[in-house]
Amino acid sequence: MIFTLTFASCQQKKNLDEIDKQVESLLGRMTIQEKIGQLVQKNGDHPNLDELIRNGNIGSVLNQVDPDEVLRIQKIAVEESRLEIPLLIGRDVIHGFRTIFPIPLGQAASWNVDLVEQAARVAAIEATSQGVRWSFAPMIDVTRDPRWGRIAESFGEDHFLNGVFGAAIVRGFQDDDLSNPKSLAACTKHFAAYGWAEGGRDYNTANISDNDLYDIILPPFKMCIDAGAASIMTAFNEINGIPATGHVPLLRDLLRNEWGYNGVLLSDWESVTQMVVHGYTPNHKESASKAMQATVDMEMASTAYETYLLELIKEGAISEKLIDDAVKRILRLKFELGLFENPYAHMGDFPELLNDDHLKVAKKLAQESVVMLKNEGSLPISNKVKRIAVIGPLADAPHDQLGTWIFDGKKEDAITPLQSLREIAREKGIEIFYHRALELSRSINIQNKQGIIRDVNRSDLVLLFLGEESILSGESHCLANIDLQGGQIELAEVVATAGKPVVAIIMAGRPVTFEAIEPILDAILYAWHPGTMAGPALADLLFGKVSPSGKLPVTFPWHVGQIPIYYNHKNTGKPASNETWERLHDIPAEAPQLSIGNTSHYLDYGFEPMYHFGYGLSYSTFEISDIKIQRNQLQVDDVLKVSVKLKNTGNRKAAEVVQLYTRQLFGSRTRPVKELRAFEKVLLAPGEEKEVVFQINTRALGFHNPDMKFVVEPGQYHLWVGNCSQSGVKLEFEIVK
Ligand code: BGC
Repeated sequence: MIFTLTFASCQQKKNLDEIDKQVESLLGRMTIQEKIGQLVQKNGDHPNLDELIRNGNIGSVLNQVDPDEVLRIQKIAVEESRLEIPLLIGRDVIHGFRTIFPIPLGQAASWNVDLVEQAARVAAIEATSQGVRWSFAPMIDVTRDPRWGRIAESFGEDHFLNGVFGAAIVRGFQDDDLSNPKSLAACTKHFAAYGWAEGGRDYNTANISDNDLYDIILPPFKMCIDAGAASIMTAFNEINGIPATGHVPLLRDLLRNEWGYNGVLLSDWESVTQMVVHGYTPNHKESASKAMQATVDMEMASTAYETYLLELIKEGAISEKLIDDAVKRILRLKFELGLFENPYAHMGDFPELLNDDHLKVAKKLAQESVVMLKNEGSLPISNKVKRIAVIGPLADAPHDQLGTWIFDGKKEDAITPLQSLREIAREKGIEIFYHRALELSRSINIQNKQGIIRDVNRSDLVLLFLGEESILSGESHCLANIDLQGGQIELAEVVATAGKPVVAIIMAGRPVTFEAIEPILDAILYAWHPGTMAGPALADLLFGKVSPSGKLPVTFPWHVGQIPIYYNHKNTGKPASNETWERLHDIPAEAPQLSIGNTSHYLDYGFEPMYHFGYGLSYSTFEISDIKIQRNQLQVDDVLKVSVKLKNTGNRKAAEVVQLYTRQLFGSRTRPVKELRAFEKVLLAPGEEKEVVFQINTRALGFHNPDMKFVVEPGQYHLWVGNCSQSGVKLEFEIVK
């Protein structure tokens, strides 16, 4: 299947008119207090939970996943509250429930949309078996900053990738029918620009231009909505001075009125009352008013709605119609989920958590997410290798390989690389010498240096497991320095002194920098945080049972000071090249100010990243040829049809990701130098060839012009098809009036 910008919406099998009637009739029987109750979401450990539910003061509970407890509180709602309205049970099911898949950034690196959808289906089945029917995912916050801890939870720097994978998660969670007891309502987040935090520091101010907001940040949300996303969560940050949770132009005017979105809009955790802290509202009452006017339906955790909405209605500051609309959206979701007819999960109807089928998907996705950044020949491990030194703090770190946001994952379920390597070593008669070397990825002191050197000396190969513990990425876990932490650089240097080939396997929640040791590494596998099945997945890759096939969903800088560095940048009036890059150390003393080229680069780091977006190596080789464009003059709404031949020219079965990029050469606003428009991951046997055909409606090439109108402009375009953002055969086409 080829992924381009058009998606069919999920079909809701339920008769929506029928549901609307049920909603109206129920609403007619509700007191104003009961209505406000539906807009309240409380954490599962709230001290008065039972009483609040019984009195109809709560619409949703989050973070209660003990099935007996879920059943108990749901029974209170359905059997003891006056109107018997079931609760929505919500949870952050971010990259798996009990079976943990790679972090979302790793999932994006697979470029395998079907597989990501399958993983989301597994997560939905596991979560719903415990009574959870609402997940606060996917997070599709486009970010260009690897310092930001939540990059781990995003699908990277490209809006198209975020949209494609976000929509895949929505489909996987919701299946094609929300009323299926195994369907999990998605909550696409965070609306909006949360990944644009200044300096990559979480919750920080987002100052963003209208064109970036409309052309980069918002399109993935639109794609998730088109895929049927049941709900959306607002963001913590302010956007150009207005907190996202009270942002009337963005929420009410754009999302509701212009886009016609009628799903549930949920605040983030206390983001309603945080408007006071932002300095936008004087008190919580005003915050409640702002959020309600912005059409935020449900307040997570804080208490502004339950405390002040009634007063605001009485004073006429808020109309009851606003409340009714919010209640209707929440009730509609409850009806769509079938909660009124079927409020309890029947565990007997569900497969076991963590069953073999689920683990198989986790292993495959972990494998496909790994990106091979370098290989001078040590991989796959040859039969001649008889002794391997396995070194590093991440080789046997079952908790850390799971990554951030794993509320329901357990380290006891995780299979570590060391465990899997030991198993293979037994079968193959290989001797393994293991040293953790550093207690944690942050630890400074290398333990047992002498022993490490001795064992490396008697090994044929070193597998060096570096990276970040899971706690170093995720919410509020940002870093100003994204270098490998602690003593890891020194460890790599110590290990390399023996002159044995060193293969680094890096597990991290973000792109880390490791310029100092890149030259001494013979091969690099970038594994993100791969999840429960990290061990078996990596062992197969290392021994060549499968070939790496991941591609970077984010640009890797050499140095943190290059951030933001991303592939779809603008050209500037003075773009740099290798010829014009004035190198710091080559500049003569007292050189005149304008002696050498004036182009857009750093004296010390030039203008190129360490690894480009879309980059990743394979054990095989591929050739892309016969690129053809069906017509090179097109009008708006015509379909741009491009075909290429992809051949596996190596001697191993392997998958390649064919990527299509375009550039509009000039426009009413300057356009990025490249933009990803479509891609396909193709698995080929040695010597096998396949034609790949891309069909893109030219509307997908549009953008917002200086009048903020969405336009597809006539003019010249370039197009590339390749296996990385920087490679590819170039063609030209034109859009005519
Ligand atoms: C996060 C959300 C999450 C919520 C509930 C917040 O801190 O920003 O993404 O869904 O907590 O756990």
